Amino acid sequence: MEPSSYQKDIVYSIFSKKHKEIAIKLPTQAGKTFGVCAAVVLYAIFNPNESIVLISHRKDQAKYMMNYVLEFFSRSKWAQSFLNYDIKGIMDRLQTERTKTFLRLKNKTTIRILSAEGQLLGYKASLLIVDEAAMIDDVVFRTEMVRMQGSVKSRNRVLVLISTPQRINFFHEEYYHPDTYRITADWQTAVAEGRLDHDFVMDRKKKLTADEFMMWYEAEFLPKADKYAFFETQELEHFVVPYEKMDIIEGNIEELAVGVDVAGEGNDRTVFTFGYHDKKEDMYKIIKYEEYTKLNTLQVANQLYKSIYRLPYNNLRIINVSIDTSGMGEGVYADFNQLMVDKKFTNRDVYVYNFKGSRRAVTFSDNCANAKAELLYKLGREVEKDKIRILRTRDSFREVRNVRMRESKGKLYVVDQNVKFDGMRMSDKSPDYFDSMLYCFNNMLTGQVDRRKLFKSAYGVDTW
Ligand SMILES: Nc1ncnc2c1ncn2[C@@H]1O[C@H](COP(=O)(O)OP(=O)(O)O)[C@@H](O)[C@H]1O
Ligand SMILES: [Mg+2]
Repeated sequence: MEPSSYQKDIVYSIFSKKHKEIAIKLPTQAGKTFGVCAAVVLYAIFNPNESIVLISHRKDQAKYMMNYVLEFFSRSKWAQSFLNYDIKGIMDRLQTERTKTFLRLKNKTTIRILSAEGQLLGYKASLLIVDEAAMIDDVVFRTEMVRMQGSVKSRNRVLVLISTPQRINFFHEEYYHPDTYRITADWQTAVAEGRLDHDFVMDRKKKLTADEFMMWYEAEFLPKADKYAFFETQELEHFVVPYEKMDIIEGNIEELAVGVDVAGEGNDRTVFTFGYHDKKEDMYKIIKYEEYTKLNTLQVANQLYKSIYRLPYNNLRIINVSIDTSGMGEGVYADFNQLMVDKKFTNRDVYVYNFKGSRRAVTFSDNCANAKAELLYKLGREVEKDKIRILRTRDSFREVRNVRMRESKGKLYVVDQNVKFDGMRMSDKSPDYFDSMLYCFNNMLTGQVDRRKLFKSAYGVDTW
């Protein structure tokens, strides 16, 4: 029963209440569920009036969790003294009635076990623990699980995600979130600490594919979300970064690019993305997003005007606005141009470009099916040269991660993130942030030397 180092870390990190969010990535059978249940029992005893919810990805796994919890209580007379009931009675009943999913302690703290397969709505959780998180649907997490903590005061709220990294979903996102406290170990550590048997793991290695072994025993995410993913998961860590890591000197921003993705008929969002070329570092940086819903084209144009007007950078003189004109953006483009005729800025020049992703590629027409593919291709080349920094938010990170390119008839094209792909839907929202970002890059990456001329010939330019 000696806890391993990572099990101690699990117990301390939950018990200390120092972290709002903890993500635990470990090999299978390493003692994840066991460790987290130990933490729950300790936490419950010392924290009155809390509602602890443990969620397992499957119903049968949920039963395991309750068994672990009860086992910890049953092994310690001291722990039992905090329970309202006679533990022996519960253990006996468990033999016959295997449905116990709820415990209440004398200190009014409750422990509830739920399964992601069952009903989750209507429960509240101050400490929420999600086991095998990689196996749980993104939508279930975002809509049902996160909601359980909605009414809990921030200082009492703790979210713990535990998993083997066998899929790229919200677990990956949360694991790499800058505010998340991470715990991880590979099979070697688990073997060294007596949790896994060396020969057993070697035997598994023979029977599993390299990818499977990597996920199940190395406890590493596969380098790509899928074989068509454009960016590698490790690579993302490097260029999709929090604001603090961007080194922005506001006085250096003299020219800014704005990308505008306009909401279509559905309930998606209109997103403005702001970026600039940092000449000192020779880096292209996306530094800000704005998101709007339920605006008509004129309202979007007005908002765009206001947003540009309000930009705080003192030395800003040139603003290049790129608007997606494949759908509703056509109207915004027209309205915004009209607005710029009516109200001019005194000391800022605004250039407005329309971008249609379906147009022919210009510079890489041999291998890119259209302008959008070409733009992504260019972006990829700059990422390789380490010249890109993208401001990280949950949406931007997920959408960049889910960018996929495919080849058809010898040419590359960008795969729509909403299309079901190899049986797996990668994202449940349209990639508004990524698209908007791409239009922003459209301004920055299309040739440094004679950009405006190039635009004039390739896309048609209006200047004010
Ligand atoms: N510290 C420990 N001492 C003794 N047995 C343990 C310990 N940690 C885990 N185990 C046992 O190891 C097995 C796997 O643990 P479990 O938590 O279910 O693994 P995982 O959730 O990582 O797949 C279980 O039988 C569990 O009882
Ligand atoms: Mg487990």
